[in-house]
Amino acid sequence: MLAPAMDLDMYQHPAVRANLAQVASIGNIVLDAETGELASGLSGQGRMMEPEHILDRVIDFFNSKKEFLGKKVLITLGPTQEALDPVRFLSNHSSGKMGFALAQAFQAAGAEVVVVAGPVALKLEGHGFQVQRVTTATEMYAAAKALHGQMDILVFAAAVADFRPENPASQKIKKQGESLPLQLVPNVDIAFELGKMKREGQIHVGFALETEQEEAHAKAKLVRKNFDLVVLNSATEEGVGFKHDTNQVRIFHKNVEDIQTALLPKLDIARLIVEEVKKAAAWS
Ligand code: CTP
Repeated sequence: MLAPAMDLDMYQHPAVRANLAQVASIGNIVLDAETGELASGLSGQGRMMEPEHILDRVIDFFNSKKEFLGKKVLITLGPTQEALDPVRFLSNHSSGKMGFALAQAFQAAGAEVVVVAGPVALKLEGHGFQVQRVTTATEMYAAAKALHGQMDILVFAAAVADFRPENPASQKIKKQGESLPLQLVPNVDIAFELGKMKREGQIHVGFALETEQEEAHAKAKLVRKNFDLVVLNSATEEGVGFKHDTNQVRIFHKNVEDIQTALLPKLDIARLIVEEVKKAAAWS
């Protein structure tokens, strides 16, 4: 493993890029430089990866069996933001942490990972997967649809806003009157639409967050959205959900036995989900 550090222009220099590509092509793993403040006082990509990130990658490397080598995985993650006017939006509390953990777990298992991320505070770049950042559900759908055909596995971890304002104002909405009626229209259901395009051998993984009749609703989503497995997050347990670093889930399969996990760090949950995907895959 090689973790380079240098100034940003140097790091982007064609000679350095070519050298790093050469090092990678002969079987080394290059841990991409991270973005932030640099020794020169400039800010950008060039910082050596934080030692704890290096340690995570080393541990993952030795723990994983590379069962997804040659497989391509697309993960949608984070919330979407739907504009009300140029300065306001409708959104939700999704942090993107579960999707990020899944991207790391699939990558550690040898997969080539592409992430389509809504607005999240996480630093997704520099971990070796391809990142496409989007803002709205419409943009997320366009990005995921364009990639769908090349993918072996799709994981729909995003908390997509179900509705958007019908006519976002082009100028900031001024305070007037006693109330502000908002007309909302439904957004595209990305998992549902791509579920209709799923081809033989492709695996679709969905998430469900329910507050009542959890199992019934999760199983209904499995069928309606053509998922192979659905990961049910409980909205009622302690230590689970959007902002936490831990999670506890139940996984319902189309063709394999269901499982229930303990309360675990999201990276461990992600590793278990990767195991379950392996069980569901025809090529395994
Ligand atoms: N999903 C999606 N696009 C949407 C809404 C949801 O891709 N517009 C995906 C989510 O990423 C998740 C799954 O569908 O994998 C279920 O999302 P959820 O919000 O629980 O379901 P909804 O279809 O919105 O159903 P409801 O709000 O009725 O629970």
